[in-house]
Parts: sequence; C-alpha cells; structure tokens
Amino acid sequence: MKVIIRNDSKGASVWAAHYIARKINEKAAVSDKPFVIGLCTGSTPIETYEELIRMVKAGEVSFKNVISFNMDEYVGLPVEHPESYHSFMYKYLFNHIDEPEENIHILNGNAPDLKAECENYEKAIVEAGGIDLFFGGIGEDGHIAFNEPFSSLQSRTRVMTLTYDTRVVNSRFFDNDVNKVPKQALSVGVATVLSAQEVLILALGSKKARAVAESIEGPYSHYCTVSSLQAHPAGIIVCDDLAAGELKVNSYRYFKAVEEAEGE
Ligand code: GLP
Repeated sequence: MKVIIRNDSKGASVWAAHYIARKINEKAAVSDKPFVIGLCTGSTPIETYEELIRMVKAGEVSFKNVISFNMDEYVGLPVEHPESYHSFMYKYLFNHIDEPEENIHILNGNAPDLKAECENYEKAIVEAGGIDLFFGGIGEDGHIAFNEPFSSLQSRTRVMTLTYDTRVVNSRFFDNDVNKVPKQALSVGVATVLSAQEVLILALGSKKARAVAESIEGPYSHYCTVSSLQAHPAGIIVCDDLAAGELKVNSYRYFKAVEEAEGE
C-alpha cells in the first residue's frame, strides 16, 4: 500500500485529481477502450472534482471515453432530492465535464427490485471491462462506500443497512435530523472495490485520522473495511496532514521517505 501525505486538503485533493487524469490519459494514449472509473460522493471528493473540472475545461483531460460507476446511493430517496447521490454527482461533477450521459452509472435506490438492481450493476461493471481505478472516501468508522463495520470483505453490490453512527454523521446533510437520513443504501461491495485494477482512497481532516490509522496499521479486518486495501496490489491512500495525525511517527516518516525517494 502506498500512502501519500500532503500538508492540506487542497494539496491532497489536487494530487488525487492529477493522478486520476494521468491514468485516464495514459490509457487513452495506448488503447481505444474506455477508461472505467469508480466514483464516490461526500464532502471529501469535492475539491478533487473541482480540479478535474478545471482540467477538462483547460483541455488537460477528457471524460469522453470514460465510463463511471458510482459507489452507492440511498434507498428510497427520490433521485431529485438534493442529498441523493444522483443530485450530488451532477452538481459537483457530471454537469461540468464531457462524460457522455450513457456512460454514467449510479445505483437506483428506488428500483422495484433492489436485489436485481445490484446484480445488474455488477454485470454492467464486467461488461464495461472491469474498473480501472476506484476512487473512494472513508467513513469515520473506516467504512468504504457503505460497507459498514462487519461487512464481508468478499461482498458484492447489495442492500446495506446503515449504522446509527453513520446516519448521525450524515445527518448534517439532512437538517441535522437523524430521522431524515435513510436507513438503507445500495452499495458496491468490498470485493467490488478490490476487483478494480487500482484503488485510490482520499481522506481529509482530523475526523478521519483514527480510521486512516486503523486502515493502515491495524489488522486486515471486516471491522474497518478500508483495511481490506492491505490485500490489494495497487492501493493508495492520499491524506492531508490532519488525517495522517494518528499514524505512528515511524509510519508517517516511512511513507514520507518513500514519497521523497519515488519523487511523487
Ligand atoms: C458516506 C459515503 C462514503 C463516504 C463517506 C465519507 O458514508 N457512503 O462513500 O466516503 O460518507 O463522507 P465525507 O467525505 O463527507 O466525510
């Protein structure tokens, strides 16, 4: 696992955006096949998306041959609800880039048959050629997508019941009223994320410090599902200094030294 630490959220977010753009451009240079990306929502990716939008407008990268699959969506929340992940993605990314509408995939949390919706999502990922790069955030309890503690590390896309803690954390988007936060979500599984060629996790701020330390230094465990990245051959955690704040001094120094040696 690689860990990139930047001084602030801007530095970490710009690093993530440039990494994503580089990967899209590298594939485009050698292949006509689309670049398949997994995308996340939340406050964390906003600055990364801002930088990607800037790059698209500046002609530094294009999403014309990119296919995207979002990680998750609430169950039962109308698509047009301002806090649906559909609304989020169009507001913060899709309305501003050149990705064709038909290339955008977001789970439908209002599908009549949620199980079929999840199974079809997995099939669509395979049909697209598999995910080249999964870009994700991390929950305060170390969850990836909505893979709450005790999710199987072999899990695939399915209906998830959200923990009370996650609903409390997310209630900031729902008038601080936990009762307004949906109780369930559709989420790609841990194994869906790990099946990607590369996984890039962005973590910002001190609220993520414990989860970051547990993911990197803790055991490989369903208790903290981002720790599953330890078993991925190409996993990267990018964080700002605050999110790296609970790492052991020696771990922090090690990752900084690797970064310096590799000239990232
Ligand atoms: C939700 C999402 C996750 C996201 C997490 C952190 O639980 N399902 O995909 O990583 O929130 O969100 P934020 O970036 O707002 O801290």
